[in-house]
Amino acid sequence: MSLPTGFSSSTEYFLEILKFLEKYSWIYTTANTCFIKEDVINKFPQEWINYFLNISENNLNFFPENLNTDNPPNSLKEFQLKISSLKADIEKFRTEKIINNSLNFKKVNVKKVHEITALANLILDNCREIDIFVDFGSGLGYLSECLYRLNNESKVLGLESDPDRILTATKRIKEYYPNAIGNIYFQNHYITESSDIFIKNCIEENFPKLKNPKICIIGLHSCADLAIVSINIFLLNPQIRKLIMMPCCYHKLTISNNLNKDANILFNNFPLSNCFKDQAANFQFSNFLNRPFLRLACQQTASRWRVMDNLEHLNHGEEMFVRGILETIRNENEVITKKKNKSTKTSYFDINVNKIKSIYEIQLKSNGIVLEWTKERELQVQKMLAKFPNGGKIAEALTCLQTSMQGICENLILYDRICYINEQSQMKDLNINSRYQKILDDKLSPRCFVLMSSKNS
Ligand SMILES: C[S@@+](CC[C@H](N)C(=O)[O-])C[C@H]1O[C@@H](n2cnc3c(N)ncnc32)[C@H](O)[C@@H]1O
Repeated sequence: MSLPTGFSSSTEYFLEILKFLEKYSWIYTTANTCFIKEDVINKFPQEWINYFLNISENNLNFFPENLNTDNPPNSLKEFQLKISSLKADIEKFRTEKIINNSLNFKKVNVKKVHEITALANLILDNCREIDIFVDFGSGLGYLSECLYRLNNESKVLGLESDPDRILTATKRIKEYYPNAIGNIYFQNHYITESSDIFIKNCIEENFPKLKNPKICIIGLHSCADLAIVSINIFLLNPQIRKLIMMPCCYHKLTISNNLNKDANILFNNFPLSNCFKDQAANFQFSNFLNRPFLRLACQQTASRWRVMDNLEHLNHGEEMFVRGILETIRNENEVITKKKNKSTKTSYFDINVNKIKSIYEIQLKSNGIVLEWTKERELQVQKMLAKFPNGGKIAEALTCLQTSMQGICENLILYDRICYINEQSQMKDLNINSRYQKILDDKLSPRCFVLMSSKNS
């Protein structure tokens, strides 16, 4: 989200993180279900494996934050120190004005209420001069609802591509906040970079009293490309004074159509800034700034990892190990699925072939028909279990290394966006301030960074 303190320029930071990611890409570029099939275990330095086989619960929990108190081998310590140097200082912010769930958000879970209210408070605190908010990807309308509830003068236009969500959002307003009719309006629309005129007309039609309004684009969990479309519309239209948006789902960014022209560019909206693109051009970056990289940036954070107990770690590792084994025995035309009666809390302790058969089934991809377990497959599984007696622990060690990298991957994606806004505003001769603010506890809400951009006149 920001330039780590040890770097004096973005160029220097981008170069260093690219070198780091290229070197350690073996940790994340294979899907976790394929870690045995793709032989990731052999890429794991033996001294790292030895270290993780003997690590205590406390040290495992604190490893991703480099707060473990034991002595990892030098090569592993080097990995940790490099991550620390690439980490951003995150300005912490806790909203005080949490609103009671039962009073205000019927049928919304507590985590979501926490996210909605924190963002709505931040928006209102920073937008005293704004006449209307345009909620991009308004979903069921919770953020719009909350802005009205906190300040019944708020005007919000919610834009959403899913017509069913528009219907539900509109129904909620009529049912729970009838006085808000006229202040909140939801419109079915797929937002693109050409939506500028549509937005202008929609405001004129539905909020006729507003003349030349000052607009703020807002968004809660603006997934993938929608976050970038929002940035581009913000840069384009002088009436849009602010952009306050909490992005998510980086892994859903769309693949570039120019793939054939330049094999090195994978996504339309990543990398974004010229500064990052220039550095990345010196690397085969499509090999390691790929979908698994984006997925890693969306994974759980080190704070959530820190509070896992030993049993959770063991179980998680065993589950990943078992999935890894099953991936080696399935054919291309088959899928491995958990049986319907198996919950996410299934125990993987004392795993053996019969237990695996009781949890998983193999289906034909084409028609979902469940296949019988053959003797040959049972034998293959048995061999794998015997070949990797510490498979579960190694799987958890791999997840631990990934968790250690998660924060710097997310920082790279989000900081690249800030650089892009700065470059574009310079080109367009605009005076824009942009930063990220952390507004939630990432243990509960891992995607908790809000982009705050503001145009100065
Ligand atoms: C993760 S959901 C968040 C919904 C809502 N903001 C919330 O937090 O409850 C993202 C929403 O954005 C909508 N969306 C995604 N891309 C869009 C686009 N280009 N135009 C309009 N809506 C879009 C999706 O349909 C979805 O409802």
